[in-house]
Amino acid sequence: MSTHNQAQSALYPGSFDPPTLGHLDIIRRAARIFRRLLVGVLWNADKNACFSPEERMTMLREATAGIAGVEIVSFDGLLVHYLQREGLRVVVRGIRAYTDFESELQMALLNRALLPDMETLFMIPAPEYGIISSRRVLEIASLGGEVSHMVPPNVAAMLARRFPARQDSE
Ligand code: PNS
Repeated sequence: MSTHNQAQSALYPGSFDPPTLGHLDIIRRAARIFRRLLVGVLWNADKNACFSPEERMTMLREATAGIAGVEIVSFDGLLVHYLQREGLRVVVRGIRAYTDFESELQMALLNRALLPDMETLFMIPAPEYGIISSRRVLEIASLGGEVSHMVPPNVAAMLARRFPARQDSE
């Protein structure tokens, strides 16, 4: 494999509970750099998660349908084990603000300590997405607030179904 080919694929891992416009922005940007971008949903049995891994994958698949080179996958266990299994070296992570940096730096360094060959590429979303987080989206939606400007339309529809009171209060 030539040096030129080595970074043709990357993994953008996350919880995506649910996917936001910030995630979509990073996916669009990363898909312009890498020929193949795997978006990896962490497949864990988190009892606090709002959406099942299958639902998150479906939401991502629908939202990224028009973006060339994007594949939605899932992974379980250690991220570095998945990278090894799939022959991947590059992980993409979005950083919204300085406050994200410390934990992301720690994760990147720990991952690299486990798999010295891997690299984490930090990408910055457009400023308008800097305040959006899945956790806040869920909180706002569950309390009847409007989130359609923070998530793709298919995700907004899923949230409206998951939190029917939101529709009642409109
Ligand atoms: O969207 P999130 O919740 O910030 O994503 C975090 C994620 C899924 C990338 C991270 O928790 C992860 O990679 N988990 C898999 C387990 C693992 O490898 N842990 C060691 C990381 S130092």
